[in-house]
Order: sequence, then C-alpha cells, then structure tokens
Amino acid sequence: MNICVITGSSGLIGSESVAFFSSKFDKIIGIDNNMRAVFFGQDASTEWNTKRLVETTSNFEHHSIDIRNMSELEKVFATYNKDIKLVIHTAAQPSHDWAAREPITDFTVNANGTLNLLEATRLHSPEATFIFTSTNKVYGDTPNFLPLVELEKRWEIDPEHHYYKEGIDEKMSIDQTKHSLFGASKVAADVLVQEYGKYFEMKTAVFRGGCLTGPNHSGTQLHGFLSYLMKCAITGDKYTVFGYRGKQVRDNIHSWDLVNMFWHFYQNPRKGEVYNAGGGRHSNCSMMEAIEECEKITGKKMNYEYSENNRIGDHIWWISDVSKFKEHYPAWTMKYGIHDILSQIHNNMSQRQH
Ligand SMILES: NC(=O)c1ccc[n+]([C@@H]2O[C@H](COP(=O)([O-])OP(=O)(O)OC[C@H]3O[C@@H](n4cnc5c(N)ncnc54)[C@H](O)[C@@H]3O)[C@@H](O)[C@H]2O)c1
Repeated sequence: MNICVITGSSGLIGSESVAFFSSKFDKIIGIDNNMRAVFFGQDASTEWNTKRLVETTSNFEHHSIDIRNMSELEKVFATYNKDIKLVIHTAAQPSHDWAAREPITDFTVNANGTLNLLEATRLHSPEATFIFTSTNKVYGDTPNFLPLVELEKRWEIDPEHHYYKEGIDEKMSIDQTKHSLFGASKVAADVLVQEYGKYFEMKTAVFRGGCLTGPNHSGTQLHGFLSYLMKCAITGDKYTVFGYRGKQVRDNIHSWDLVNMFWHFYQNPRKGEVYNAGGGRHSNCSMMEAIEECEKITGKKMNYEYSENNRIGDHIWWISDVSKFKEHYPAWTMKYGIHDILSQIHNNMSQRQH
C-alpha cells in the first residue's frame, strides 16, 4: 500500500496536497487539530475544510492530533510504517506577528513539532520522502538592506543588482539578521529537515515559501495576505496597510503550483535540499497593486486605512528566485498568476462563510 501523510491537512497547503495526492496514493492520512482557530480565533477555523475533505475524498482519513504529541504521532507511523512513502509537513504556527505573543507555543509547534515528525519518519518510514514548508522569513530582514528604489506603486530592486532578473536565491545568509520569533522557530525546523537529509541521508526537502495563497485559505488579519485582503474587499471590513507607503512587494504562489513542486520532487527526490518557492517574477504584486486588483474584481472601492508603523522586520521587497528548482526539475512550470489567484479566491469566498 502507498500512503501519504499530510500534516496541517485542513490548512491552505495541506488541503491542496490532500486534493492533489489523493489520486496518486492508496490512502491519505491527514493530521490537523484545528489549532489555527486557537491562534487566530474562530474566524480562522479550518473545520469547514476538514468537513469538506472528509465528505469529498474517499481515501482520506483525518486524525485530530497535535504534532507536539510524539506518542500520538508514533501510533500513526507505527501502524502504517513502511507503507508511508511521502510525508508533507505543513502544520505550523504560521504568523510572524503572533509568535511574539507566545514564543514557547510558537517554538514547540514549529520546531519541536517538526523534530517529532522527522523522528517518527526516521524510526518507522526511513525510505519516505519528507517535504517541509519553510518560509522566506528564515532570511530575516536581510532583504531590506538590498538597494531598493521607490516607484509609483511599488518598491523595486535596483535594475543593476543581480537579484533583479529572477529574485532572491537560496545563497542569501540566514544568519545574523532579525528573523522575528516565527522566523527563528522556522530556522530551527528548516535546519533540522536539512540535517535529516545530510546526516541520516533521508530524502528531505525544504521549500522556503514567499506568500503562499489560494482559494482554500482561511484568511485572517495576522495570516493569509491575499485571502484576507479579498475577504475585506467583499465584506467592506476595514483593511489596515502597515507602513512602507503600501508599496511593499510580495510574490504569491498558488497552492496548486507549490504542491505540484512537491510532486516533481517526490518523483525524483534528493537529500537535504533547500528551495525558494514563491511566485517569482511571474506572480507578484505590491500592496497598492493588490488593492487595485481586488477593486477591479469586486467592482467596489476597498475600505482601508494606512498605518505608518510597518510590522517589525517585515520585508519591503521580496521576489523568490525559483531557478534552482527549475534547474533540478525542468518539467515544472508555474500555472497561475496574481489575477487568476485573486479571481479564484473571490469566487470561492463568495460561496463560503469563512
Ligand atoms: N501562507 C503563507 O503565506 C506561508 C508563507 C510561507 C510559509 N508558509 C508555511 O507553509 C505552511 C502551511 O501554511 P498555510 O498557509 O497552509 O497555513 P494554515 O494555517 O492554513 O495551515 C496550517 C494548518 O496546521 C494546523 N496546525 C497548526 N498547529 C498544529 C498542531 N500543533 N498540530 C496539528 N495541526 C496544527 C492548523 O490548524 C492549520 O489547519 C506553514 O508551515 C507555514 O509556516 C506559509
């Protein structure tokens, strides 16, 4: 039997992974305890998504386990052991800002939780491919010291700089920078995943996400940029833009495009690899540009205010260079751009309650 274990299976990337891999594996084991509602309130609950997956995916089995609980995790891994061929670990405390409220909770979920999963995989399913969703926050605020220029609607990097063409690559240092507590807990997890590849020779990969997005995000103020922006565009709730004159640039990758990267990696895995994974030059926008696009799609003016205070350590300009992944997996291409993503979020949100 071929089994795929997906943690955070009710979240954005986890649920996209369930949908994508359900036709490729005999069984999908989802692990998610809806901790997103504990972090961000009922409004961000992923229960609707668990229900949807259980109803629509016949080979999906949901387990409400906390990834901090090693003995519960081990029960799952001991039951299916070598049948587990792929582990996709997306469960996390995902917010930069929230982490400072409860550093211990953030660290134990993000770092210890990842170690638990790596160890459970090593002990019971050592041949499995292990995929981890890291973040560009591991680079801390180093990108803010690049030579940036202010344009009418966005910050941009100096056209002479070598990052101009493709964006920021994996060679940027992750050391001696302001990461935020979230960035620090993700660095710990990121390095552990690399180490299980390098030291134990397991098939592990780290995908350092830019903004990950898509129609199944439970967007909330502290996490889920485009999803929350579109939610406000639809409901008329006030959206706050934090600093940088609203010109901060993010690259946005559709959850399907990211999960398709996982699929390419799984078919020809490597050991302890690290990839930047974002929309790159193909799919990016500034806050002002995203607001304009939401207004076009909804046909309504957005209700937003501007606060001079940027989020601590927030990136001014981030575009991921995905050419390393493309070089390793030339058959992978990106399917969705900003307009497709926002239109899909709009359609999906107009139909659901969260
Ligand atoms: N969304 C982004 O913009 C973004 C950017 C970079 C990196 N990432 C990373 O990608 C991953 C997936 O992000 P997402 O946007 O799908 O997040 P998400 O919050 O939508 O999904 C994460 C899921 O994990 C679950 N979870 C949290 N703590 C848990 C625990 N202790 N035990 C079991 N389940 C738990 C939550 O209930 C949630 O359903 C995360 O690791 C995140 O740090 C996300």
